[in-house]
Amino acid sequence: MAPIPMLLVLLFAASPASSSNSEGEALHAWRARLTDPTNVLQSWDPTLVNPCTWFHVTCDPQNRVIRLDLGNSNISGPIGSELGRLEHLQYLELYRNNLKGKIPAELGNLKNLISMDLYGNHLQGEIPKSFAKLKSLRFLRLNNNKLTGSIPRELVVLSNLKILDVSNNDLCGTIPIGGPFANFPLQSFDNNSRLNGPELQGLVPYDFGC
Ligand SMILES: *[C@@H]1O[C@H](CO)[C@@H](O)[C@H](O)[C@H]1NC(C)=O
Ligand SMILES: *[C@@H]1O[C@H](CO)[C@@H](O)[C@H](O)[C@H]1NC(C)=O
Repeated sequence: MAPIPMLLVLLFAASPASSSNSEGEALHAWRARLTDPTNVLQSWDPTLVNPCTWFHVTCDPQNRVIRLDLGNSNISGPIGSELGRLEHLQYLELYRNNLKGKIPAELGNLKNLISMDLYGNHLQGEIPKSFAKLKSLRFLRLNNNKLTGSIPRELVVLSNLKILDVSNNDLCGTIPIGGPFANFPLQSFDNNSRLNGPELQGLVPYDFGC
């Protein structure tokens, strides 16, 4: 009888794909630590073979997660370090939620990331120096949070960065110069009471006032 062996063949054929469901596992592990009062994550079923049919998740034709669109979603909790495992991610959109805690350094592993929008949350701690590894990044909006520390000078290597907004935080030190920082308007840095003007190399210490 053909049907049963056929089913087994299909199951075995499917197993390499399910072993690549580490992205679904990463997302589900993060979800377990979130509060989701309006059930925007209801479709995140970890028993599916991959997360590509989940709402707010977009995959490429190879079923790899390339977008996470959870802006204005009323979610609260931490930004999980697990997200650093979505190595094909291009868009990380988590703006205007109630996310708290630090920005995980692991997000610096997202080497294909084009856009990171974390603005309008309650994020604390420093901007990770590991963001210097985000060589594809074009848009980085971290404004309207509670970030502290200095703007990592390491970010001057991000030659594709077109838009940076760190306004309305509690950053300190001086604004780096060089690389993309030559083109950012001063409004990008507004309302950080302890942040000083562009770095005068050699004259003012980089972390002046921190
Ligand atoms: C977020 O919550 C507000 C107020 O409860 C509601 O009006 C809105 O639809 C919610 N947003 C989503 C994406 O569920
Ligand atoms: C400055 O930024 C803080 C932190 O985000 C915010 O609470 C405050 O309302 C902002 N002030 C102005 C004048 O925008």
